[in-house]
Amino acid sequence: MIDISIYRRRRALLAARMQSGIAIVPTAPERTRNRDSHYPYRFDSYFYYLTGFREPEAVLVVIAGAQPRSILLCRDKDPEREVWDGFRHGPAAAQERFGFDEAHSINSLGALLPDLLANQPTLFGHLGADSAWDARMIGWLNEVRARVRTGVAAPREIEDLHAPLDEMRLIKDAEEIAVMRRAAGISADAHRRAMRATRPGRAEYEIEAELLHEFRRCGAQAPAYTSIVAGGANACVLHYVQNDGVLADGDLLLIDAGCELDGYASDITRTIPVNGKFSGAQKEVYQLVLAAQAAAIAAVGPGGTWQQPHEAAVRVLAQGFIDLGLLSGSLDQIIETEAYRKFYMHRTGHWLGLDVHDAGDYKHDGQWRTLQPGMVLTVEPGCYIRAGEGVPEKFAGTGIRIEDDVLVTPSGHEVLTSAAPKSVADIEDWMRSRHE
Ligand code: GLY
Ligand code: MN
Ligand code: MN
Repeated sequence: MIDISIYRRRRALLAARMQSGIAIVPTAPERTRNRDSHYPYRFDSYFYYLTGFREPEAVLVVIAGAQPRSILLCRDKDPEREVWDGFRHGPAAAQERFGFDEAHSINSLGALLPDLLANQPTLFGHLGADSAWDARMIGWLNEVRARVRTGVAAPREIEDLHAPLDEMRLIKDAEEIAVMRRAAGISADAHRRAMRATRPGRAEYEIEAELLHEFRRCGAQAPAYTSIVAGGANACVLHYVQNDGVLADGDLLLIDAGCELDGYASDITRTIPVNGKFSGAQKEVYQLVLAAQAAAIAAVGPGGTWQQPHEAAVRVLAQGFIDLGLLSGSLDQIIETEAYRKFYMHRTGHWLGLDVHDAGDYKHDGQWRTLQPGMVLTVEPGCYIRAGEGVPEKFAGTGIRIEDDVLVTPSGHEVLTSAAPKSVADIEDWMRSRHE
């Protein structure tokens, strides 16, 4: 059962932040994959955040002011289409079930929008994501402008709808945190399952199948992003998604996979030994990345800045690169010149929520923003050592990343994904319990 008060509250907050004017929020279009096959449908994150409504072909209109109103436009009931494609709420049931002030057929969008835009001072929309949608918005605006001689005023200002919504989405409310905790738990279970399925001779896609199996078995609708299952040197390709290599005895396996549950992403990376036991050289690099992650996680808390976990990770990694003989020079110089980027070329995390790389600015007025309770971020340092000049043979082709999802709490932080084994001992113990 959907708790409509959550979505009502979010729409009321949006209206309050708009102060006046009208917001138009379309959901995502259905997309063709090839000929008449479609990609699995995924609603737009902003639209879903404000409605909880998952059907395609829907638009939300929010009118701010003394008496804010929210209006849904959605598909009509259509018994014949419903035989083929499944249930549709239709406007009347959608209004009731999702708590809108009004609901209409999506077919009346073109007729209704110019009337709703009339005499509104500001239009909140998002231009540039979909040119066909942009053209429709401009068309409705021009229709209102054409009526000026009848005494109607067209909106004079167009504001980016995402600005107020991004700030709202950045701070997760209790309902969102509850879903994200469940998503994180399912993904941790999927990693545990993948670890138990890993052994030399298996294909990367067989391990990917274990992840997907666990996601769906637990009710998650989809992976939140394409799973990375990268054996050996494939782990040095940051966005490796081919997943068709064969796992070799003595190699590591990097798995970056997380499910999407009820719209919310989780995002976990673990790096494990294919044969269940880290070699000495692998352990050296692994312990370094783990220490960098611990330092970064320790830097997550209210009042700290977005940048501090990254700086903490970089400091540990850079010193480690010196100690392992991968880089030479002073620590300060390696940080200053960013020489560490040869082995650690990405940032330490991103916001997480409805989108895996979630909404929200990282800087405010040129300053890294301050962490606040309710923010959720990933902490994912790594080390990628490609074979090459100056790289000790024993480290060549080693790619390691360790990634967890971290909630900022009033007293510090909570690691949402801690059920996925992470220390050398925990991973080896868990893998030892594999059935052959
Ligand atoms: N899996 C996407 C990321 O880690 O950012
Ligand atoms: Mn990530
Ligand atoms: Mn990831």
